[in-house]
Amino acid sequence: MGSQSFFSARPLSSSPLSNTNAKVEEKWLGYFPLKRKPLYPRLSNGGRVRASLNADSKAIEIPRRWYNLIADLPVKPPPPLNPKTLEPVKPEDLSPLFPDELIKQETTNDRFIDIPDEVIDVYKLWRPTPLIRAKRLEKLLDTPARIYYKYEGVSPAGSHKPNTAVPQVWYNAKEGVKNVVTETGAGQWGCSLAFACSLFGLGCEVWQVRASFDQKPYRRLMMETWGAKVHPSPSSITEAGRKILQKDPTSPGSLGIAISEAVEVAAMSPETKYCLGSVLNHVLLHQTVIGEECLKQMEAIGETPDLIIGCTGGGSNFAGLSFPFIREKLSGKINPVIRAVEPSACPSLTKGVYAYDYGDTAGMTPLMKMHTLGHDFIPDPIHAGGLRYHGMAPLISHVYELGLMEAISIPQTECFHGAIQFARTEGLIPAPEPTHAIAATIREALKCKETGEAKVILTAMCGHGHFDLTSYEKYLQGNMVDLSFSEEKIQASLANIPQVVA
Ligand SMILES: Cc1ncc(COP(=O)(O)O)c(C=O)c1O
Repeated sequence: MGSQSFFSARPLSSSPLSNTNAKVEEKWLGYFPLKRKPLYPRLSNGGRVRASLNADSKAIEIPRRWYNLIADLPVKPPPPLNPKTLEPVKPEDLSPLFPDELIKQETTNDRFIDIPDEVIDVYKLWRPTPLIRAKRLEKLLDTPARIYYKYEGVSPAGSHKPNTAVPQVWYNAKEGVKNVVTETGAGQWGCSLAFACSLFGLGCEVWQVRASFDQKPYRRLMMETWGAKVHPSPSSITEAGRKILQKDPTSPGSLGIAISEAVEVAAMSPETKYCLGSVLNHVLLHQTVIGEECLKQMEAIGETPDLIIGCTGGGSNFAGLSFPFIREKLSGKINPVIRAVEPSACPSLTKGVYAYDYGDTAGMTPLMKMHTLGHDFIPDPIHAGGLRYHGMAPLISHVYELGLMEAISIPQTECFHGAIQFARTEGLIPAPEPTHAIAATIREALKCKETGEAKVILTAMCGHGHFDLTSYEKYLQGNMVDLSFSEEKIQASLANIPQVVA
């Protein structure tokens, strides 16, 4: 059967930070006050640690609601379009790929969505996650800045990705779906989905970007341990994959290609749905559990961030941490700078155009208005596989256009230099993706050293790098290079963006 679009495949309030009316505010934020002795946050090994909040803070509970930033934006984001009619996508257009509840979440304007008890129950394996002050890194940098990082690497898969994998699989299971398919770049998302499927009894098939498949055999083995079937992408199983292999048999793959392969498979089978690890509104929504938790943690230690930094691939960890803070910013209570950091080799926000484009390489998804390098742009195989995506979440792109955040790009050697400083002071070995946030944090902390400003910097440390040590080996042996950004290559792929007058 031919590769085709799935369209044709089948017929405020008060501030939580003030002290007034505490009960109402706690409800508004979705927290339940602690009744008895505070519990210290639990790690995935079953232990409880106090370190999650540092010695001088109080423990908090897992948020009970996800936050939808769209409800509070002064201008609503442009809708995704059906590429055939150029009309806004209808729920029925999406139903071959997603269960009804996730389609509702994708399009809702509701401010908060209750987190199902079954999902909270799984979140308890690793949430609340620690908020840690990087005192030793501050000391190394000799900076007056106070650096905090919210650490999501304590989840079973080792990153923030299970925050959305678990609800996505749960909603699919609830609606009787038997199998899900997906792409994975870093391997973190594929692992997260495989883990969630193992909990709720669904079959799971993953297209792992070739470069990542070759560099990270242990990520594949983790997915297989949780029961998933893993294919390198591009693969010869799908038409989308075969087309790429015809042009370039040694293609390193990309997230855009792997998405095309998984969408193609889901669109052909009534028993199979598709899950996405980033980009879409419902994915960003689920990740806000990070920021909601962090708001409370910062409040508990009496700190307010001046700057919030996160790395951006499709944008989900960045949105997860920053969106609840943007709500507070919009209400005028706080005014942090919000900064996204992308790789110099794949700079969709800083060098892309803001236009309607496909979310995948083969052009099977709806058209989304986003910052894009062109859907057939294949980024060089940098080590941060999770950041090798041609576009940016439409909601983040919109927030960027509204001027509510800023973006920079950093080359990978500077990122790994920062990661080594971080590992040798804070102990944790970051995944290649958050090394971008760490490098940007270090840049800012060193600026503070020059100016004498004691800024509070909050960083998303969204995953550990225990299965990314080949990248560290390259860096430590002096073999890592900065892959040069090619204007020509980008101009060529930008020329293929569909012409949509909107
Ligand atoms: C650890 C980690 N961080 C960040 C990302 C980038 O994705 P996103 O921008 O959606 O957070 C990935 C993607 O795979 C990842 O594995």
